[in-house]
Amino acid sequence: MSTAASGSEARQAPQEEFDDLGVLGERLWRELGRAAQDRHHEWRQPVLATLCPDEGPQARTVVLREVDVSSRMLLIYTDARSPKVAQLQADPRASLVCWSRATGWQLRLAGRIEVRADGLDVTSRWALMRHTRSAQDYLSPRPPGAVVDAAERAQVTPITTVAPRAHFAVLRFQVERMDWLALGPGGHRRARFEVSGAELPGQWCCP
Ligand SMILES: Cc1cc2nc3c(=O)[nH]c(=O)nc-3n(C[C@H](O)[C@H](O)[C@H](O)COP(=O)(O)O)c2cc1C
Repeated sequence: MSTAASGSEARQAPQEEFDDLGVLGERLWRELGRAAQDRHHEWRQPVLATLCPDEGPQARTVVLREVDVSSRMLLIYTDARSPKVAQLQADPRASLVCWSRATGWQLRLAGRIEVRADGLDVTSRWALMRHTRSAQDYLSPRPPGAVVDAAERAQVTPITTVAPRAHFAVLRFQVERMDWLALGPGGHRRARFEVSGAELPGQWCCP
């Protein structure tokens, strides 16, 4: 799941530990927490799917920035002008898919996303982000997806260290359901979990 250097709890643990649904559910959240901390973790860059009223399902890669295990919340940063934001404001239902070749684990998370474009949630994170190279992603004069001509394409927007909050927004993904699939030479395994407060009631199901 992680690189050899950063290690993975999931890889090191004996397989029997995953026979208990309660242990497995919490283990999956710990792994998500690791992914948000470790830029080499394979779950660090999941695929986020949203619903567009006109064009149907839309999926794209994002970076998992923060995980709050106690509230089962995942945070993703984005440009407030990006189409996914309008899609989520129209319909907050979303799905996030993580895959790890190292463990053979796929984790699908379903829930609702709240878009935060202002408030302390946003200003505190932008204060940390604004002096980094990543700030560039939120400073573009044109919205993501806007059509540009060749001259504009060649233009590099300079990083401005005195930028205001720009177009930085935080997506707060409240996880409601989880679906774990483990591929293995001895057979595949699958389990589904509901998020019910602090509890994660789960059940085994056919892969
Ligand atoms: C490795 C990788 C990581 C990315 N991380 C993010 C991210 O954290 N947030 C984001 O808004 N877009 C991210 N993107 C860009 C999106 O995949 C997408 O192209 C962009 O957000 C526009 O999506 P939209 O038109 O559906 O809104 C990433 C792309 C790649 C390839």
